[in-house]
Amino acid sequence: MGTARGFGVDVGGSGIKGCPVDIDSGVLTEERLRIPTPQPATPEAVANVVAEIVEKFGWQGPVGITLPCVVKDGVALTAANVDKNWIGTDARTLFAERLCRSPEEVVVLNDADAAGMAEMQFGAGMGHRGLVVVLTFGTGIGSAMFIDGKLVPNTEFGHIEVDNQDAEKMAAASVKDNLDLSYPEWAPRVTRYIQTLERFLWPDLIIAGGGVSKKGHKWIPLLETRSPVVAAALKNDAGIVGAATAAMNSTNE
Ligand code: BGC
Repeated sequence: MGTARGFGVDVGGSGIKGCPVDIDSGVLTEERLRIPTPQPATPEAVANVVAEIVEKFGWQGPVGITLPCVVKDGVALTAANVDKNWIGTDARTLFAERLCRSPEEVVVLNDADAAGMAEMQFGAGMGHRGLVVVLTFGTGIGSAMFIDGKLVPNTEFGHIEVDNQDAEKMAAASVKDNLDLSYPEWAPRVTRYIQTLERFLWPDLIIAGGGVSKKGHKWIPLLETRSPVVAAALKNDAGIVGAATAAMNSTNE
C-alpha cells in the first residue's frame, strides 16, 4: 500500500458516503461513513452533511466530491434525480466555503465520471484502451466514456431515448426495484437500452457499475449486446475513490 492519501465524498440520492483513500492503490484506508441524504437534498443541506463527514475523519487536505449532475468548472448544470436548486449552483465555491478551504482544494465532478475514473485506474477497466463506456445503474443511469483511458467528461447516456422514453426511466436499477422485477425480468430492459446506445457508439468494452454490479453474475450473462459487458470491480466505493484521486491529481497539477 502506498502512502499518499486523498479524501472522497460520493453524493447519491439516498446516501452521502465519504472516506480517506489510499490513492496509490485505490483502497479505502478506513471504514467509510454513510449519512442518509437530507430531503430535500438542497445544496446547503448536502454541503452540511459533506462537512460533517469530512470533519468526522478530521481530514485536513483536498477533498473530491461527486454530484449526480453535469458539472463544469465546479458549477452543477443539471439535476435529474436531485433537488432542482442545484442547477446553476457553484458547487465548488459552496463546498469550499463550508469546508473552510480554498476553491483550489476542492474538486467537484459528476458521480459516474468519478466512478468510471476509479474503474479505469484500479478496477475492471485497468489496461483497457480503445473506447470504454462505464454505465452506473442506480436511481438513474450514469455514464463515463474513455478513449484510450482518457475521460470525455459529462456524457449523459442515461438520458438517450429508448422506445420513446428517457432510458433511465426504463432501465435504471430503481425501475427494477419499483416494479419488483427479478434479474431475468430486468435484463431485457438493459439489453434494449445498450442496443440503442450501440446504434451510436461502438465500445470495445462496457463496464456495468452501481449497486447491482455486486450481483452482476445474475444479469450480465443474460444481456444480448454487441459489446462485451463486465461488472465493475470497485462496487460501492468507486465514486469515493474516483473523487479522492481527482482531487489529489488536480491539486498536484
Ligand atoms: C444524471 C447523471 C448522473 C446519473 C447517475 C442521471 O440522472 O443525469 O448526471 O451521473 O443520473 O447518478
